[in-house]
Amino acid sequence: MDEREIRLRTSRRRLFLKTAIGTGIGLSLVSAFYVGASLRPKAEVTPEKEPLKPGDLLVYAQGGGEPKPIRLEDLKPGNPFVLAYPMDPKTKVVKSGEAKNTVLVARYAPEELAPEVAQHAVEGVVAYSAVCTHLGCIVSQWVAEKKAALCPCHGGTFDLAQGAKVVAGPPPRSIPQLPLKVEGGVLVAAGEFLGDVGVKADRGHCRTV
Ligand code: FES
Repeated sequence: MDEREIRLRTSRRRLFLKTAIGTGIGLSLVSAFYVGASLRPKAEVTPEKEPLKPGDLLVYAQGGGEPKPIRLEDLKPGNPFVLAYPMDPKTKVVKSGEAKNTVLVARYAPEELAPEVAQHAVEGVVAYSAVCTHLGCIVSQWVAEKKAALCPCHGGTFDLAQGAKVVAGPPPRSIPQLPLKVEGGVLVAAGEFLGDVGVKADRGHCRTV
């Protein structure tokens, strides 16, 4: 696949996210889309399906057009989280072809963060996998009154200031944090996810709401 085709596919995928979330259908549809995607047979690993790596830039998952890196100054404490994909800084390939690469990014006042969360955050900005640990939907809604992230599939709710601790719903564990740093004013992955992303293969049962 040449670079033009990769960019075209990335642009289409980001346009889909923008449209789905913007219309408010949206959030359950996005989650269902990714559940479906995760159930498909494994395909070849193209550059856009490469796993997130330390040093990748975080770019907005929504918006279309050229990939836009997330700037620290774009994020305000208390605002809803944004969805992001990693982008290889050398090739500029956005790794949007693999649902497990989807990241959510939110900003809190630094004093709101638990110490173990703060050590992997930067100026109150935290990042986590957006893949729900229950059945793999995308955690895509913000609960303003709780400053928490909600999975629309079964109501799993994660407190991002407290290590994405599960505060409601059936997820069996928190979503893993992604260490962050800032380079040139933009967010960069400072490591890999601090735990397993998505549904653990060895789970023998499914809790229900
Ligand atoms: S898949 Fe997220 S709560 Fe069920």
